[in-house]
Amino acid sequence: MKVALVGAGNVGTAVAALLARKDHEIVAVASRSPESAAAASKRLGADVYAVDELPQADLILLGVPDAALEPVSAKIAGRVSGGAYVWHFAGSFGPSVLDAVVDNGAIGCATHPVQACPTVDAAIARLPGSAWGVTCSDPAAEVRIVELIDRDLDGYALVLPEEVRSIWHAAAVATSNGLAAVLATGETILADIDIDDPMRVLGPLAEGTLQNAREGGGGAATLTGPVVRGEKETVRRHVNALRDRPGPFMQYRAAAFLIVQAAVAAGRIDEQTAEEIMAEFGR
Ligand SMILES: NC(=O)c1ccc[n+]([C@@H]2O[C@H](COP(=O)([O-])OP(=O)(O)OC[C@H]3O[C@@H](n4cnc5c(N)ncnc54)[C@H](OP(=O)(O)O)[C@@H]3O)[C@@H](O)[C@H]2O)c1
Repeated sequence: MKVALVGAGNVGTAVAALLARKDHEIVAVASRSPESAAAASKRLGADVYAVDELPQADLILLGVPDAALEPVSAKIAGRVSGGAYVWHFAGSFGPSVLDAVVDNGAIGCATHPVQACPTVDAAIARLPGSAWGVTCSDPAAEVRIVELIDRDLDGYALVLPEEVRSIWHAAAVATSNGLAAVLATGETILADIDIDDPMRVLGPLAEGTLQNAREGGGGAATLTGPVVRGEKETVRRHVNALRDRPGPFMQYRAAAFLIVQAAVAAGRIDEQTAEEIMAEFGR
């Protein structure tokens, strides 16, 4: 396919680069700033265009932030050819945010990669093997897009009804941002007792925990530690030790709430044990 990229950020540039590896031809790059457009142009070997002057393409990738999807879709609507695909990558939005191009004969697709992409290089490395949530304006197109993602992006694509996309995205945010925030909690606590390199201590633990979950049927099944063992005395010792350290205490309490909620939902502890453990924080 001839592919045009609008929004030369982390996800859009990485997806274009991965498609180029599979012999799709990147014919245009457009972005808000000349610097981003030039960097993507160099990486992808494609010419830079103004957003509203795109050349003919079979697939237009909208790598713009969620809030820019509707205005950018309206801006390119006059340049899309009938039957062309227009993709965005937002998790909680469906194809209806692309109505302007769909009204002009294009097929709008919401294609959300379930991956954290802090840089273009990280995205290129991690998107292969990742899951994708796909919703298109034309249901027949969904089959083709799922095939394309599975084959050319080495993805695991699932078709989603538009109305569940926000729930789908909430799961991705809870997992990715939640994991990072829980790691940050451990880092804060260790830094407070002058451990120089908290990630050297916590990294192998985090990787082991993730591996246990992947091999052992998920986080609920493989949750370990004092909460699922109902060890209130151990939690009390943590609380007493952290009480005079306000930052670490607040973060630990938030993590404990998360652990207790997950343990109850998984049927690993009962409501009364949960209440007793959380009561330790109020003493
Ligand atoms: N990053 C992730 O982990 C991740 C994961 C899954 C899905 N997503 C989704 O992927 C999409 C892109 O996210 P991202 O993280 O790749 O964003 P990003 O790195 O911030 O890139 C967004 C790009 O869009 C450009 N842009 C902004 N407004 C524009 C406009 N009006 N016209 C043209 N270009 C415009 C920016 O331009 P300049 O640089 O030129 O100023 C920037 O290069 C979002 O829908 C996001 O929800 C992101």
